[in-house]
Amino acid sequence: MQIRLEQTPWQSVQTDWLIIGVLNTELTSQQEQDVDQVLGGLIQRLRKRRDITGEEAELQVLLEVPAVQAERVLLVGLGSPAELSVAGLESALTAAARKTAREKEQRVALLLPELPEGSVDRQTVAELAARAFTIGCVGEDLFKREPDLFPFKEVVLLTAEAPDSLKAAVQKGQIVGEAINLVRELVNRPPSEVFPASFADRAAQVASELGLKCDVLDENRLREERMNAMLAVGAGSERPPRLVVVEYQGRGEAEAPVIALVGKGVTFDSGGLSLKTAEHMANMKTDMAGAATVLGTTLAAARLGLPVNVRAYMGMVENLPSGSSYKVGDILTARNGMTIEVVNTDAEGRLVLADVLCYAVDQGADRLVDVATLTGSCIIALGERVTGAFTNNEPWCRLVLEAAQAAGEQIWQMPMFKHYEEQLKSNVADVKNVGGRWGGAITAAKFLEKFVRGKPWVHLDIAGPVFVTDGNNLNGGATGCMVKTLIETLRRVVD
Ligand code: BES
Ligand code: MN
Ligand code: ZN
Repeated sequence: MQIRLEQTPWQSVQTDWLIIGVLNTELTSQQEQDVDQVLGGLIQRLRKRRDITGEEAELQVLLEVPAVQAERVLLVGLGSPAELSVAGLESALTAAARKTAREKEQRVALLLPELPEGSVDRQTVAELAARAFTIGCVGEDLFKREPDLFPFKEVVLLTAEAPDSLKAAVQKGQIVGEAINLVRELVNRPPSEVFPASFADRAAQVASELGLKCDVLDENRLREERMNAMLAVGAGSERPPRLVVVEYQGRGEAEAPVIALVGKGVTFDSGGLSLKTAEHMANMKTDMAGAATVLGTTLAAARLGLPVNVRAYMGMVENLPSGSSYKVGDILTARNGMTIEVVNTDAEGRLVLADVLCYAVDQGADRLVDVATLTGSCIIALGERVTGAFTNNEPWCRLVLEAAQAAGEQIWQMPMFKHYEEQLKSNVADVKNVGGRWGGAITAAKFLEKFVRGKPWVHLDIAGPVFVTDGNNLNGGATGCMVKTLIETLRRVVD
């Protein structure tokens, strides 16, 4: 389905749902006044009786509204004009999308809100609206005989003017929304369906649809490449590991920088022999979200034709206990020759990333971002909604943080003082894979830093925001967090 702009007057659109945004203040814009007038002062009356307040993501259905052709009108609260933000507007419009997608084959038309001067600009509104309606009609109901949500038959964005710039914004919103949906689907699917080889097949398939190069390293090639830390993590599983590399050359010149996006792809994290409790294992199908995120981002970058060279590296393994598992006390030799004492087999993500980061650098990465559901500690530190950022290079990190800000995603940078490294000292090897209880998200990042050979690198720990268990949340299940931020990051890379 293609989301499109239309210049039809909103009163006369033939549709199942006409969606109109309302702010939480008295009517301010000309558009709001016009709407209220055509509706015979209805919005004012609803507001007086407090049937609507306009608070963010509030929904009110109106039936049989005179003067409009639409079957139903849905009023959606946009919140306070002083506090309008990309994230707030997107969550309000996603709520509207979810509400209207509950029946099959709905046609929806959104009157693109005209927001106060100096708040979110028109192009951004069109982009986030397209994204919200792409994401909002998809849930985690993959296996329900009676789905919760259905794809729309038609999504129309109503606007007075439709210049090419606005059309491009809508298309961008839809492309990024579809990338986020791919990530959400891969993360939401059960671990018996998504395992290293099946993920690799899917990645190869979607890459070839866009004409992108995809290289899959099987366990034999991983052994040849000396990726013994990654191989150790996968040793307990009957499903062998895979390293998947997808490449998008958006800038031909050889001297253009190569941006490596590295993703943790643990398709199921039982903890291994350091087995998790039942409670902690509950959502560990999501432990491959980093890999799905870098895949979705790279595909979207290609579809958008961004002028950058991107390589996505996805380290896919399953972490299970068995007679062939790697053990506590084992000493692993990583690709770069560093020896690692395994203190806990549940600190597996950093072992996978160690080899994959190193491989990406050896293949010529100039700058790196890795995305990983790496530590429970990061959730303790920042809560469930915020991504932790860690870096060895302030300017590169600043670019990522600014991209997140523009994309409406929340990231918080964590310290990387040298002394944290002391916690990783081992008596028997160069390093151990756990740095003790305190500052666990940071010592994990300090571990990774040892494998990037000084290249500018940002590590994003998405253990918190990757997934929501609250069924009422806008994006039930996997969220697809950081796709928008990474796309915006790639857009900002100029060298
Ligand atoms: N995949 C987990 C981290 C995680 C925890 C993600 C909760 C999402 C929600 C990771 O592999 C892990 O098990 N980390 C351990 C490390 C510890 C053994 C040092 C953790 O954070 O408890
Ligand atoms: Mn683990
Ligand atoms: Zn893990």
